[in-house]
Amino acid sequence: MKRIKVNDVELSYRDEGTGEPLIFLHAFALTKAMWDEQVTYFSPSYRVITFDWRGFGQSTLGEKHPSMDVFADDLVGLMDGLQIERATICGLSMGGYATFAFHRKYSFRIASLILADTRAGDDSEETRKTRYEMAELVRREGAAVLPDKVLNKWLAPSTFENHPEIVEQVRSMIANNQAEGIARAQMAMAERKNSVPDLEQIKCPTLIVVGENDAITPLSEAEAMKAGIANSEFEIITGAGHLSNLENKVAFNQAIAKFMNANFLKA
Ligand code: MLT
Repeated sequence: MKRIKVNDVELSYRDEGTGEPLIFLHAFALTKAMWDEQVTYFSPSYRVITFDWRGFGQSTLGEKHPSMDVFADDLVGLMDGLQIERATICGLSMGGYATFAFHRKYSFRIASLILADTRAGDDSEETRKTRYEMAELVRREGAAVLPDKVLNKWLAPSTFENHPEIVEQVRSMIANNQAEGIARAQMAMAERKNSVPDLEQIKCPTLIVVGENDAITPLSEAEAMKAGIANSEFEIITGAGHLSNLENKVAFNQAIAKFMNANFLKA
């Protein structure tokens, strides 16, 4: 296992392959393992980096008050440590929220963007309240309380029917995380900025990806990002819910490969 000291934490990461750097940012309550299939698929052509956010997987929790800006600072620290000047950043869901924060602070470190199953807007008051309640619940009862509360919304019905192994993989990723890491990330999401005004500032090539049956960040959110980002493309991942890279890895990988190859493997 590779670990690197960044700011006040140690981040656990994978760094596979060579070429144009492609960094994947994981979703809330999951870990870098959600990207293992993408590491296998893309590392023959690209330098692929995945890592656990602070407080998740094998990364330490640190002391800082959680925020998307802290995540963005950790990402730039990781890039500095690995001597990566610019990269394509692919953020899914919470990874996408962090991508917006990263773009605000460090757009000069971005070669292109992939925004997967995410949204630009901030939370409603009601969603914020639910997040604080969920943070307290997880602190009290542990991470294992979370899967039954979220999986029905995160995964498409067809994933439950046809891919019980994916359901189990996601369940165990969540349950093996530290409760405090999950609680802090809920707070960071609740307090995140509205990124809608940033959309017109995004000038780099951008791919927007959404699961056809994403119930958390639905098609309408992806379409709004597409409308706001001038230099953007759009792909729907058929049959997938919110975790589109896990639920239909073939379509997800093809969509990203098409975008990456067009931008970085030009003859
Ligand atoms: C995620 O998948 O990162 C979360 O579902 C995002 C959210 O709760 O808004």
